[in-house]
Amino acid sequence: MKKTDDQILVIFGASGDLTERKLIPAVFDLYCGGFLPEHFAVTGVSRSEYSDEAYRQKVVFENEFILKKEAGEDKLKAFADAIFYQPLDTKNTDSYNTLKQRLQTIDEAKGISGNYIFYLATPPSLYETIAEGLSHVGLNKAENAWRRLIIEKPFGYDLESAKQLNSKLLACFNEEQLYRIDHYLGKETVQNMFVTRFANSIFEPLWNRNYIHRVEITAAESVGLEKRGGYYDSAGALRDMVQNHLFQLVALVAMEPPVKADAESIRNEKMKVFQSLRPYTKEDIITNVIRGQYLGSKVRGEDLPGYREEEGVKEGSKTETYVAMKFFIDNWRWGGVPFYIRTGKRLPTRVTEVVIHFKPNHHHLFAHDKSLSNAHNTLVIRIQPNEGILLKFDMKIPGAGFRTETVNMDFHYDELTDVYVPGAYERLILDCMQGDATLYSRGDSTESAWQFVDTILKAWEEDDIPVYGYPAGTWGPEHADNLIEGENMTWRYPCKNLTDDGNYCEL
Ligand code: NDP
Ligand code: BG6
Repeated sequence: MKKTDDQILVIFGASGDLTERKLIPAVFDLYCGGFLPEHFAVTGVSRSEYSDEAYRQKVVFENEFILKKEAGEDKLKAFADAIFYQPLDTKNTDSYNTLKQRLQTIDEAKGISGNYIFYLATPPSLYETIAEGLSHVGLNKAENAWRRLIIEKPFGYDLESAKQLNSKLLACFNEEQLYRIDHYLGKETVQNMFVTRFANSIFEPLWNRNYIHRVEITAAESVGLEKRGGYYDSAGALRDMVQNHLFQLVALVAMEPPVKADAESIRNEKMKVFQSLRPYTKEDIITNVIRGQYLGSKVRGEDLPGYREEEGVKEGSKTETYVAMKFFIDNWRWGGVPFYIRTGKRLPTRVTEVVIHFKPNHHHLFAHDKSLSNAHNTLVIRIQPNEGILLKFDMKIPGAGFRTETVNMDFHYDELTDVYVPGAYERLILDCMQGDATLYSRGDSTESAWQFVDTILKAWEEDDIPVYGYPAGTWGPEHADNLIEGENMTWRYPCKNLTDDGNYCEL
């Protein structure tokens, strides 16, 4: 168990949605699990005026995401005693001095000795301003203590702005102090991909172009915009999901084994994957990247609005709510293996999974069985829900002859009933508290991912590439099916047999 120093977690954007829904509940879980250091405080910062007591009411005693944990009044009260609030307008440089003094007072009262994390959960346009404000009053460094900065996504809007943000942040903090959060990396099942690949001798020898036919990654959501229309309409699925979450999954699937399981070794290997992405030309983008936008539709008896009818979306918006793409990683391991990734809102269900399709046998011993001539083994890593791993392979059907059938060998995380699975934010915040950046993105790989995505954004800006409509509740534009070439080959549709209540069901 790593050591967690005494510290203050300072949250900018303290009155916002993310803080209430994810951050404070995650810190509360750490508290309940006994992971917080003996001397610890949270200080919330935003423009709204709250007293400490009023803020504790809001984020602890009246917070449904904490109350549903049913922890008991004593625990809530003890946790709330460690929470403070400081009103501040990030654009007013003088107010950082007030914050500095306030932190000193809390620090002395709690006996903390100067270790601070600054968590930026504000609109992204304020990240540079806050870093400069902190640096201006010397909160970015300390003689005998550490200072760290967590930055929420989106990290930049395109390659240019990501570079600019990186350089502005690096003028105030050094790279070791920066923690760029991608909550997908905090998911247990995402981390388990690393273990599945590198702890088991059966997978690694097969994990290359000689045995793998194609890799498929799906991150489907059944929800729509959930009142985030203002943000989403200027972002779209490519920026919101692909540049960060999906590419992090690609990197974990494709990376070489690192020399050590530490932050630098792992992040170096992931960086090499991004550097090996084969750049697209405009023609490649037209044929290999499909964008779509959901249309109004009736789904399980409910009338769902189309994207353009959602609150906060501009009239006639062309923002994509769906992206599917095919690309290649030009290196020794993956030469010639297509990667297919897709993500979308208002798809039939919520499911994120990585599917490794192995090549079929060279010699079809049972080729008289037509269904088998195209069969191949498939490994499905289910990130969510129904977290687990599924291997599909062929078995003999008992009886005469050699009739075969594809069967599932299926492991579900929830079978490990006595194991507590921490939430993504809980895990990532604890890592930062302990100074472990392994599960955070490094600046150079963020830029490399942007570089690949930027070409697509630029091609789309020229406006001659269609945005296909798809009815809410379907698997996106049919054009995406054409990306996967080959007889009888298609995306894996994990829940074609959607149950009436909309739950995921394995085929
Ligand atoms: P909200 O709009 O709910 O909250 C924004 C916060 O920033 C508020 O606390 C607001 O408080 C504060 N703020 C705004 N302007 C200033 C200012 N000038 N000075 C000080 N504080 C200011 O946003 P979210 O909580 O949804 O998102 C926050 C960040 O997290 C964004 O970057 C978002 O992209 C990212 N994110 C959010 C997710 C979510 O599920 N919500 C998921 C993933 C990332 P006040 O008005 O009181 O100043
Ligand atoms: C966020 C995106 O980063 O990830 C959202 O901004 C998306 O649009 C969410 O809904 C998906 O996260 P999860 O953990 O529900 O798969």
